[in-house]
Amino acid sequence: MAGEGIQAVYSLEQIRMLLEKVPRVSLANLPTPLEECKRLSQILLGPRIWMKRDDQTGLAFGGNKTRQIEFLLGDVITQGANAIVTGAGSQSNFCRQLTAAAAKLGLKICLILMRGVKGSELQGNLLLDHLLGAEIEIVDEADSLNLVPHFERKAESLRQKGYKPYIVEPRGRSAPLLSLGYVNALLELVGQLAERKISLDYLYLSAANMTEAGLALAARALGLRLKIVGISPIKWQEPRPVDIAHIANCTAEILGLNIQLSPNQILNSEDYIGEAYGIPTPEGNAALRLVAQSEGILLDPVYTAKAMAALIDHIQSKKIKREETVLFLHTGGTPALFAYAQELAQPA
Ligand SMILES: Cc1ncc(COP(=O)(O)O)c(C=O)c1O
Repeated sequence: MAGEGIQAVYSLEQIRMLLEKVPRVSLANLPTPLEECKRLSQILLGPRIWMKRDDQTGLAFGGNKTRQIEFLLGDVITQGANAIVTGAGSQSNFCRQLTAAAAKLGLKICLILMRGVKGSELQGNLLLDHLLGAEIEIVDEADSLNLVPHFERKAESLRQKGYKPYIVEPRGRSAPLLSLGYVNALLELVGQLAERKISLDYLYLSAANMTEAGLALAARALGLRLKIVGISPIKWQEPRPVDIAHIANCTAEILGLNIQLSPNQILNSEDYIGEAYGIPTPEGNAALRLVAQSEGILLDPVYTAKAMAALIDHIQSKKIKREETVLFLHTGGTPALFAYAQELAQPA
């Protein structure tokens, strides 16, 4: 990655030791598998493609959030809280995985969910939230930033009932803690790559904020030349690189890393969102079928399928050369497949 800002470079062991100082609850099945997608590469006449299976982190169908909430819950426990209040869209993977973790730790959890594209239909993640025991309220907000007053209201009512609530704001104060899980993931990946003597040119992933922030920070701290390419599933007002660099810098501060990333060091594309967040694209659905039918691996229609569509496009347009090596980070989200049965039933 382009070298700007502060230039300190750290060893894997130094970063690992800094991470170990942060309170953490062990929840994920780690390391996640690293698998080569040989048939997919052949079909695309493309580069070597590896997939890091973070859809297999465990905890109620897995996904990238399991890694993220290990550090978040470390703080929840440190603060002595016994109830969590958070929210996002009604098919949120984050809320499903956090609810599973809360169940495992015996914490109460209240979710304020936006009706969004999939409404209150009891399918996919929302069904799992119910089964996992979340207290759920569905509200008619369109932007997750507007959920904050709802969180405050809910937390106050919990306080009055004697709980000690902890508000989780994925788009606010909780983001740096959440991104620590992907600093750790990059260390894990670097170890796996070294063991198998794989030299990576690109890392592709579906990324709105925390995951890419953690990866970019760790890659920068280790001085890697790897290009991390985030494909955003959503359009928010603030350009993604600005937000991601900001989160990465706050995360660096938690760890005590002498590093500062600027937005121009973050690669994140909004070109594959399609009509809107949560609405599948024909290219994404085609990518989902291709990976399913060439590798036996299921992507999800909201996040990973759109990121894979971008990777396929970049291979076909020769932005990525055949002799290069790419890793696709599978960030999970597969429970949403069932909520999108209608859209996915049509062959692409
Ligand atoms: C399956 C999946 N992939 C990718 C992401 C993006 O993760 P982040 O918000 O950390 O960028 C999410 C976020 O909800 C997700 O659920």
